[in-house]
Amino acid sequence: MRIAIASDHAATDLKAELAEWLMELGHEVADLGTHSNDSVDYPDYGYKLAAILADGTAERGIGLCGSGLGISMSINRNPAVRCAMVSEPLSAKLAREHNDANCIALGARLIGIDMAKACVTTFLDTEFAGGRHQRRVDKLSNPPFDTDTIEPLQ
Ligand code: RB5
Repeated sequence: MRIAIASDHAATDLKAELAEWLMELGHEVADLGTHSNDSVDYPDYGYKLAAILADGTAERGIGLCGSGLGISMSINRNPAVRCAMVSEPLSAKLAREHNDANCIALGARLIGIDMAKACVTTFLDTEFAGGRHQRRVDKLSNPPFDTDTIEPLQ
């Protein structure tokens, strides 16, 4: 599978371990950075990962930051991407079966390498269930408002 992975500085080490493991498993992995522990801004990496998923260069994405929250929020700004923040495999399974998630986010300050691998394995191995879930997933790509025309609150 073509997998893109990205993180901020809080998850560089976990990202590197996951990327190496995924390549050993035979996946094609694009590591979008960051590549050091120097402080960076998670949206820069979240947007980059989302763009790669949106244009089809990667089939699945894995975003990481300290909590998994900031990177998942930034990834989900792109309507082509459905990113689920997960900390255990059941959420990863449901994110695939019900939400057709094409990305997961992990918090490097919350979980260790074994739990991260368990989440990723489930995310990669679980199929979307389709059926009644398809209509709901389609609505996620077409929100009933135009984000460009929303007036800011005073
Ligand atoms: C960085 O300190 C931290 O805020 C970031 O990794 C992430 O947890 C944000 O949501």
